[in-house]
Amino acid sequence: MKILASRRFPGPAWDELEDVEYLPAALPGAGGRREDVEALAVVGERIDDETLDLFPNLRIVANYGVGYDLVDVRALAGRDVLLTNTPGVLTAATADLAFALLLAVRRRVVAGDRAVREGRWRGGWADPDFLGRDVSGSTLGIVGLGRIGRAVSNRAQAFDMKVLHNSRARDAEGWRELDELLAEADAVSLHVPLTDETRGLLDSRRLALLRDGACFVNTARGQIVDEDALVRELVSGRIEAGLDVFAHEPAVPRELLGLPNVVLTPHIGSATTETRDAMTRVLVDNLLAAARGETPPNVVYADAEAP
Ligand code: 8YV
Repeated sequence: MKILASRRFPGPAWDELEDVEYLPAALPGAGGRREDVEALAVVGERIDDETLDLFPNLRIVANYGVGYDLVDVRALAGRDVLLTNTPGVLTAATADLAFALLLAVRRRVVAGDRAVREGRWRGGWADPDFLGRDVSGSTLGIVGLGRIGRAVSNRAQAFDMKVLHNSRARDAEGWRELDELLAEADAVSLHVPLTDETRGLLDSRRLALLRDGACFVNTARGQIVDEDALVRELVSGRIEAGLDVFAHEPAVPRELLGLPNVVLTPHIGSATTETRDAMTRVLVDNLLAAARGETPPNVVYADAEAP
């Protein structure tokens, strides 16, 4: 099975694949029409009808990552092309990063680090710039209680936090309507996939419901939030945020760059050596199964709920 990959994926599992060729340039259009290619291994590439037209004998698109919002699942289904993703193995790393952002924002870790490096620490202990807010004992609102949302909830328990959630599990303890959750939580962390229903879910009206001084954490997808409205709230200083994802990556709104109430990271939720290797393992297992003519373990179906 000829595999066209957008890069060499990290870790030893990648070497188990035999017939791999690397894309000369970003999809679509790279190299023109290819009748021999049966599999694509991609990360961050848009896969739509235009791309699929180039690969008439494609059998599988293996997506490196759990989120597959750049892939037109219905276009694939219409051509009997399978889509697979890499769920599970990145849950802990992404939940860890959400917590790292929460702690960094609440406890002024980045501002403090910068001050020390720039020689602005004068030995005092009462500088208001470094006076943070408690994480332990505060109320965390989790939007989306899938694998990653639950892992964040587990971490929050260890910090004696009160956990609220908005998810499909309406009857579970701590469930709130989204608007109520936003108004009640000290910190809100986003863990829903980007779909047609969640695009722009946190619009300006909803962002305005956040409490004064609330911390907003996003390790999911930038487009779930109205980024302009979020920037306005952050520039006003009313709320604070830890952001790993943005609406137009790698572009980050310029207004955020000088703000002390924001911690910014470059979409690194799954970026640990162990997790990225494990993602490759899952991606390769899916490709090997397809090559053997078996159903791959992580097929995403067009009618399934997104991760
Ligand atoms: C990475 C992710 O963006 O799994 C996802 O949905 O967003 C991350 O793991 C990615 O897949 C590698 O860049």
